[in-house]
Amino acid sequence: MPDGKNILVGITGGIAAYKICELIRMYKSSGANVKVVCTPNALNFVSILTLQTLSQNKVAFEQFEIGDFKPEHISYADEADVFVIAPATASTISKIANGIADNLLTSIAAAFNKPFVIAPAMNTNMWNNPFVQENLQKLAAQGYTIVPPESGFLACGTTGEGRLAALDKIFDTTVDILCGTKKFLSGKKIIVTAGGTVEDIDPVRFISNYSSGKTGCALADTAFRRGAETVLITTKNVQKPYKVVKVKSALEMQTALSEEFDDADYIFMSAAVADFRIKEFNPQKTKKTDSDTLTLELVKNPDILQYLCNKKTSSRPVIVGFCAETENLIENAKNKILKKGCDFIVANDVSRKDIGFSTDENEVYIINRNLDVKKVEKQSKLKIAEEIIKEVYEKSGNLCTHK
Ligand code: CTP
Repeated sequence: MPDGKNILVGITGGIAAYKICELIRMYKSSGANVKVVCTPNALNFVSILTLQTLSQNKVAFEQFEIGDFKPEHISYADEADVFVIAPATASTISKIANGIADNLLTSIAAAFNKPFVIAPAMNTNMWNNPFVQENLQKLAAQGYTIVPPESGFLACGTTGEGRLAALDKIFDTTVDILCGTKKFLSGKKIIVTAGGTVEDIDPVRFISNYSSGKTGCALADTAFRRGAETVLITTKNVQKPYKVVKVKSALEMQTALSEEFDDADYIFMSAAVADFRIKEFNPQKTKKTDSDTLTLELVKNPDILQYLCNKKTSSRPVIVGFCAETENLIENAKNKILKKGCDFIVANDVSRKDIGFSTDENEVYIINRNLDVKKVEKQSKLKIAEEIIKEVYEKSGNLCTHK
């Protein structure tokens, strides 16, 4: 993770500018320092206050400001380790490729001699314009990293190539450049489950839980970034650059896991699986009666983790359980690892408001089968995911010399 690295984010005037607010949050959660520079047009799409609050830094957009003795474009260029321009419009791409420096962003670009990440976003015809393509090729030939746009629905109402690349892709590209991410999981298949299962009562009601699926997503993102063939089995709607299997109930999750199990190297069971489901699903909406009470009969769901651990025949796959507790955290976690037979258990305290469900941070304990406990201090879920994957990888017999 790019702890303490300086990322300069350049935003130009396209509708995708609003997405960069989330990208800034991702960079900040990874531990990087973020500064933002905007073209004047970018500020038609996002506000200075939003960018300032998210980056926790002053946002630059004026070419000449009375301030430090050092010209602003030079000090920004000196400070940053990488310059990420997203969205990059046809105009800004073409200016940079031709050495034009007519606003603060393009002036910094002209003075910047470290790695660039350029994520274009524009209308399909603009994207296909031969001059724009020629200018992009000029940048690529000089070593600028281009994160190409995707095909999809565009703000102009058409569908085609030109939509800003997925933020995960821009983020991963930046982290790779800053950290030289070692792909120590290449050749490994990793399955991650995420989110709370949903058990239907009738067509309009269900039983579920507060799990946001964020930890699972962070684990799968990390596994993918580290080179693993990644499968995320989740109850949430997410788009990822790796395989995602959308499921709803515990039974569906069990089926999806069984289908992926045989060639898996690691399974991270971070989903919050409902222990019970409705005995008989009512195909019609359950009607209110005169009675003041309603009794729902529940039946036990399979314990998927235990089922997988029983299925495991050799040292493969390594299976990691997760447990969310409100009291006696370590004791309960130790009991669970022994009862379920998994190789590791990751425990966290969900009674705390500052970590766990629906928050961006967590603090966890990783326990192995010898019942050794390792505490991972409170930090972003993304960094926690890195720690969990690294610990499990190292302690399951691999020497991990990754950055
Ligand atoms: N789990 C599972 N199937 C279930 C319940 C839980 O696979 N039916 C998995 C979870 O994905 C998690 C681990 O078991 O990795 C522990 O989940 P938790 O809900 O803490 O455990 P339970 O056995 O349900 O215990 P509790 O009585 O605390 O709910």
